[in-house]
Amino acid sequence: MIEIIDVSKTYSAGGVKAVDGMNLKIEPGKIFGFLGPNGAGKSTTIKMLTGLLLPDQGNIRINNIDILKEPIKAKTIIGYVPDEPVFYEKMSGAQFLGFIADIFRMDAGSRAAAAAIAEEFGIGDKLGEAVSSYSHGMKQKLSITAALMHNPEVFILDEPITGLDPQSAFILKTKMRELCKQGKTVFFSTHVMEVAEKICDEVGIINKGRIIVRGDLNEIRAGQASGPDDSLESIFLELTNEHIDIN
Ligand SMILES: Nc1ncnc2c1ncn2[C@@H]1O[C@H](COP(=O)(O)OP(=O)(O)OP(=O)(O)O)[C@@H](O)[C@H]1O
Ligand SMILES: [Mg+2]
Repeated sequence: MIEIIDVSKTYSAGGVKAVDGMNLKIEPGKIFGFLGPNGAGKSTTIKMLTGLLLPDQGNIRINNIDILKEPIKAKTIIGYVPDEPVFYEKMSGAQFLGFIADIFRMDAGSRAAAAAIAEEFGIGDKLGEAVSSYSHGMKQKLSITAALMHNPEVFILDEPITGLDPQSAFILKTKMRELCKQGKTVFFSTHVMEVAEKICDEVGIINKGRIIVRGDLNEIRAGQASGPDDSLESIFLELTNEHIDIN
């Protein structure tokens, strides 16, 4: 479960209020899609959820663990795929996964599971090579493998689909579904409306640091003046852009 309680964040550089009084609760066993225009505050929210950025005010709880009070404990149950993964590029893929396994104090069984995940994503035969030689998509797959290898209770991904080939995107979506079926929580940001429409139990749209709508798609459609058959894309455009006439 993820609870965001009255969270705000202003960056001192530029003074932008990136997240403005956000309240959000995501129940376990759900896939939550986080949508919003560029600069809306998605990555800022995600960095606060994962303990990488401190909120100016408010509380965040991950499975009832306060990320501010017990960051290490919370991080042990989070799997995080950042928007721009960072590696020690001179390490091989296997060394990088071993390094992550050491941080999480994983046992031999879990380490073997990591190799199996890498294999599924089609980078198994690349693990002996330096990360610097990986393509963008391969790095993304390594990052996803590293986030999944400790079998997280809460899986948080920042635009994970971008850059993945269709086969890998399918595997990732299947994994997200599997985690949910096990009662875990999945929170991901995306700009791909079709993906959100297809796999999310719930979506939230953020604009200028505020959640402007949330719910399952039927609820959101029902709340729209334009009608129950609207695509998520047209609802998104209507709610987030005052300047486009989509009709
Ligand atoms: N490190 C930073 N320093 C100063 N301002 C920042 C920083 N990171 C983000 N911002 C600002 O905070 C706001 C929210 O940015 P954020 O990266 O959270 O948006 P986003 O919704 O993830 O956008 P995108 O879809 O482009 O990834 C923007 O106005 C951005 O310019
Ligand atoms: Mg972002």
